Amino acid sequence: MIEDKKIFEKYNDFFKGKKYNITTFGCQMNEHDSERISFLLEKLGYTKTDDRSKADFILFNTCLVRENAELKLYGQIGSLKKIKQEHPDKIISVSGCMMQTTDARKIIEEKYKNVDIVFGTKNINKLPKLILEYLETGKRVFDVSTEYELNDFVEYNNKNNFQAYVNIMRGCDNFCSYCIVPYARGREESRRPSDIIEECNSLVERGFKEITLLGQNVNSYGNKSKFNASFPELLDKIANINGLERLRFISSHPKDLTKDLIDVMKKNNNICKSFHLPLQSGSDKVLNEMNRHYTSEKYLELVKMLRNSMPDISITTDIIVGYPTETEEDFLQTLEICKKVEFDSAFTFEYSPRPGTRASKLKSLEKEIVQDRFERLLNVLYPIFNKKNKEYLGKTVQVLLEEKSKNDSEMLSGRTDTNKLVHVKAPISKIGEIVNVKIKKHTSFTLEGDMVD
Ligand code: SAH
Ligand code: SF4
Ligand code: F3S
Repeated sequence: MIEDKKIFEKYNDFFKGKKYNITTFGCQMNEHDSERISFLLEKLGYTKTDDRSKADFILFNTCLVRENAELKLYGQIGSLKKIKQEHPDKIISVSGCMMQTTDARKIIEEKYKNVDIVFGTKNINKLPKLILEYLETGKRVFDVSTEYELNDFVEYNNKNNFQAYVNIMRGCDNFCSYCIVPYARGREESRRPSDIIEECNSLVERGFKEITLLGQNVNSYGNKSKFNASFPELLDKIANINGLERLRFISSHPKDLTKDLIDVMKKNNNICKSFHLPLQSGSDKVLNEMNRHYTSEKYLELVKMLRNSMPDISITTDIIVGYPTETEEDFLQTLEICKKVEFDSAFTFEYSPRPGTRASKLKSLEKEIVQDRFERLLNVLYPIFNKKNKEYLGKTVQVLLEEKSKNDSEMLSGRTDTNKLVHVKAPISKIGEIVNVKIKKHTSFTLEGDMVD
């Protein structure tokens, strides 16, 4: 420890004026990890830059849920080879889910010699030490842990001063047959409710308006823990924090969604009326082979329960097309359930075999078949999204204004409590406020309106 302190002192001034840049792939869990990494780097003395070419510390926080996320990473670090040759003092680092696998680490080790520091999802808080080790020895540092070395309460930065992520659990034990996440993130562990509530309290005291609770399957929160707590109880307690305006959570697994949760949502006005409920497939045969533990009928019942209780709730989903054993008949069942549910929005994916998962041992379908089904799925979904958004025309909704609109510098964009993206003409000073907006235009993916009193 004393030695650590000495080394830290030696580099006291080293980081002043130096800049860092982080590229994050994957889900909100990874985004939140990047917020932690950014906190640690700023504590060392780095400041943030959005321009990667100006950064002294360049980090990629990776995802391996589908193959294209991996390929993107290799493309991006490959393109930095020249920069590293010209500026050998720049540090390039790779972290995140991909680094939890030996295969990906080996590729980085052997093919991307310009990468200096590698760490994983479970030892993020070691990063400052790893940087110093690299600076001291000049040797590449690979340090990935299979056990959590993270404290529960590692501090983090936030993307702005009104929206925050809070981890309530980590890992996943569901082992859906296609999914790599349980291998990358390890076993499911829930955080102590008192720690989570303390963290939420502190965020609200500091002026945060919206909290999003994170877990791979929030509905199983507390199931395997020593303490006695369920997700609906936790959610209810957090919703009761005085001054918290919006509370969201992701993701929910249909197999563990209960009426208790729906009752808590209905009772608390500040719990956003949007629900992300990954369906994956409409075929019971495929759902069973995916190890999802529900049927299409059960899924439809849950949707009915949600809508009966909260008629304006928006329901979104994830769908995988082209699972190896999916037949045309199975696929038609997916189209059928999409028409029945009428999703507000959906993330759609072509099945991507992930080495090490059970499904990866099955023979993949032909690419043309998968692409054709994917297109047909979108042809069914997009008109439904459009119809759902059209229902907002003429209505006045509350929008939390988040940032400048990407396409129009005069506009801001934000979200309704139903998680619809809305473009509004409003001054920049309104960012971070919840305003009333009367909707006058829509597309399949966005709404547009004017501020009203
Ligand atoms: N824990 C979350 C999902 C995390 S991954 C949940 O269960 O809701 C996000 C989505 O990626 C999944 O819902 C699934 O639709 C998709 N996905 C995961 N593995 C995939 C694979 N091998 N190929 C294609 N899509 C995949
Ligand atoms: Fe993957 Fe299934 Fe866990 Fe979601 S619930 S992370 S899809 S294994
Ligand atoms: Fe998330 Fe990708 Fe990891 S989806 S948990 S960042 S594999």
